[in-house]
Amino acid sequence: MKKIVVLVSGGGTNLQALIDAQKNGQIINGKITCVISSKPDVYALTRAEQNQIPTRVLNRKDYPDIASYSKAMLTALQQEQADLVVYAGFMTILDETVCHAYPNQMINVHPALIPSFCGKGFYGLHVHEAALKKGVKLSGATVHFVTEVCDGGPIILQQAVEVQNKDTPEILQKRIMEQAEWKILPKAVSLFCQDKIRVVDGHVIVEE
Ligand code: GAR
Repeated sequence: MKKIVVLVSGGGTNLQALIDAQKNGQIINGKITCVISSKPDVYALTRAEQNQIPTRVLNRKDYPDIASYSKAMLTALQQEQADLVVYAGFMTILDETVCHAYPNQMINVHPALIPSFCGKGFYGLHVHEAALKKGVKLSGATVHFVTEVCDGGPIILQQAVEVQNKDTPEILQKRIMEQAEWKILPKAVSLFCQDKIRVVDGHVIVEE
């Protein structure tokens, strides 16, 4: 059984999708063993507590820089004996020491079809604002491995979602969460836990 550590920073609806999938037996050979938040008092922590999942807070504001924060995160992940680290709405970019310690063992969900609307500054509602500003007719979500390049690691799963005429960033965000993120994140986690994901020359091959 692989130990899954989930990193959060906010409301935690993607964490909830993982918890629900776990309850429904859809995370095969994996268990969420810890939730770590970069902020205190976020609802994601409440969701974990309501489901008897141990939590830790590593408050980004308690650390002077990314290097010291990354070091503390690495220590926490090692203490938790993480086999898989999931960024579920985790809004802090860690330095390369962390992703080098967990090569192809950290996955992130991003609310757009990478390589569109991704990289530094593209997070949360900003992603959907940019998609609407451009006028794309399709957006969606991507689950990918985390590397030192922000949103640049090997792509595991993507799901497209239609943009509609009267969309606001909030409406588009909700549709992308419901139709894409909450589905492909648990699916990718389960595939990983079953050792069904291989990375060859920077590309993911999924054994269905
Ligand atoms: C989600 O849409 C997630 O994809 C996005 O933030 C939201 C967090 O929601 N993540 C990023 O933008 C990371 N670059 P949640 O806390 O309800 O899961």
